[in-house]
Amino acid sequence: PVDLWTGRNGTVDPGDQCSCGAFLSGTIFPMGELVQLEQTAVQISQKLELEIIKVDMYESKLTIYMEKVVNLTLVIKMMEDDPDSYSELYIQEVKIQIKQVEALILELQASIQTSSSVLITIRKEITVIIVELTKLETKYDKNLVLVTRREYIKLQQKLDECERRHNEIFNPNISCNHGGISRLSKPIISQLNANLGTGHIYGGWGKDSHPLPGTENRYWYSAATTTVVRYMSVYSDYYKLIMRQAMKTYDLLSPKNWQGTGNNYIIRANTFYYQYASPFSMAKFNITSQTAEYRAVSGASSRFSYHYSDNQNLDFAADESGLWVMYATEASKGKLVLGKIDEAAFALKQVWQTSVYKPSVGNAFMVCGVLYTTRSVDTKTEEIFYTYDTHTQKGLYVSIPFEKFQERYTYLDYNPTDQKLYMYNNGYYVSYHVWFNQNQS
Ligand SMILES: *[C@@H]1O[C@H](CO)[C@@H](O)[C@H](O)[C@H]1NC(C)=O
Ligand SMILES: *[C@@H]1O[C@H](CO)[C@@H](O)[C@H](O)[C@H]1NC(C)=O
Ligand SMILES: *[C@@H]1O[C@H](CO)[C@@H](O)[C@H](O)[C@H]1NC(C)=O
Ligand SMILES: *[C@@H]1O[C@H](CO)[C@@H](O)[C@H](O)[C@H]1NC(C)=O
Repeated sequence: PVDLWTGRNGTVDPGDQCSCGAFLSGTIFPMGELVQLEQTAVQISQKLELEIIKVDMYESKLTIYMEKVVNLTLVIKMMEDDPDSYSELYIQEVKIQIKQVEALILELQASIQTSSSVLITIRKEITVIIVELTKLETKYDKNLVLVTRREYIKLQQKLDECERRHNEIFNPNISCNHGGISRLSKPIISQLNANLGTGHIYGGWGKDSHPLPGTENRYWYSAATTTVVRYMSVYSDYYKLIMRQAMKTYDLLSPKNWQGTGNNYIIRANTFYYQYASPFSMAKFNITSQTAEYRAVSGASSRFSYHYSDNQNLDFAADESGLWVMYATEASKGKLVLGKIDEAAFALKQVWQTSVYKPSVGNAFMVCGVLYTTRSVDTKTEEIFYTYDTHTQKGLYVSIPFEKFQERYTYLDYNPTDQKLYMYNNGYYVSYHVWFNQNQS
């Protein structure tokens, strides 16, 4: 009877046959939300296309201005060599031309700056949506989200390319011909890890820093719920990484126990460099031959981990000049020691003593022979606070703040092949574009 129903709010009388319909909205797939996200993808795509057209324009304008500068430089040189042959009128004309080029370049810089902020906004929008898609994917059937996710992967790749070209306008020669890091981009959130586990907070991801020919597009990922390093997956490209379709997953416990610890590994020339669990040493797992070997690091102590995670005693890094390992010793009283590894001999060939206390450091990485160390500013902000230049053997306290995705991260490394920083942040794949000072300092 109806009044029995309403009066009892759906409870069942003992012996009665009636039952209540459950409120199902929590488990029904929110189609409306997905349609909305697809429409947003179209809008973002249009905005992005517009920015790509602009970058084309900036590049061609820049080429013309450069040519003008070269022409004027030649004229000035001729005038200097033979000052008497040029009339005052001609000199005035050249001066006006110089002023004009200067004005054009300033105008171009302003436009590029505006475009940069548009790209940052687009990046933010995409990031929010990727997090939203991941939520949908973990809660419902992930196949329903597949098409939309593909759209966003494409958008992300287009945006990456657009940002890279922007970066190149400011830094035409991406090599070590710069004065060090000036700033980092906003965090680029790719997605939650392949284990789809928010408990997998210990891990890392990235690309080979010196790929064998034909493997340039590969990505790798490793993570666990503890600091143990056991599984490592390789993906043929970014798309496969995002679709969580590994080419192969390697197990460092089988057939032999080659397990590691500390999650501060990298892949270089198809070799996985990591901290061996026992005995405490540096190790390399050759992915081609699938064999591991380890070497003790003279003086290295296992007492000084980084701030965010345990067992991070040997941190591997790679830059334009090769392979590095960061650690601390009892003799250094916990201050960070930097070692350059001879890859062929798998041995340290030179070490530098820095003045930064390793446990105060969030993480560290190398760019062009310079060590960069980070620390927490607040729950949303991290900063590069100390650098050590191996060429001048000088340490420097600096402040280059950057935004974190979430408070804790266990992995940060630079990759010289694409000048990006790869961070593993609370289970998410995060990366940053790196901007350099133009002049060699
Ligand atoms: C039924 O639910 C309403 C609203 O939650 C509440 O005010 C009322 O006391 C409930 N009745 C019974 C019998 O539990
Ligand atoms: C630079 O000089 C060359 C040769 O005089 C000329 O052909 C060219 O148009 C000039 N370029 C610009 C951008 O003024
Ligand atoms: C760019 O780098 C190349 C070699 O890597 C060098 O020859 C060239 O002079 C550099 N150009 C500028 C503008 O620095
Ligand atoms: C890895 O193994 C392959 C095949 O045995 C070998 O050619 C290569 O030199 C090894 N790489 C390193 C870094 O030891």
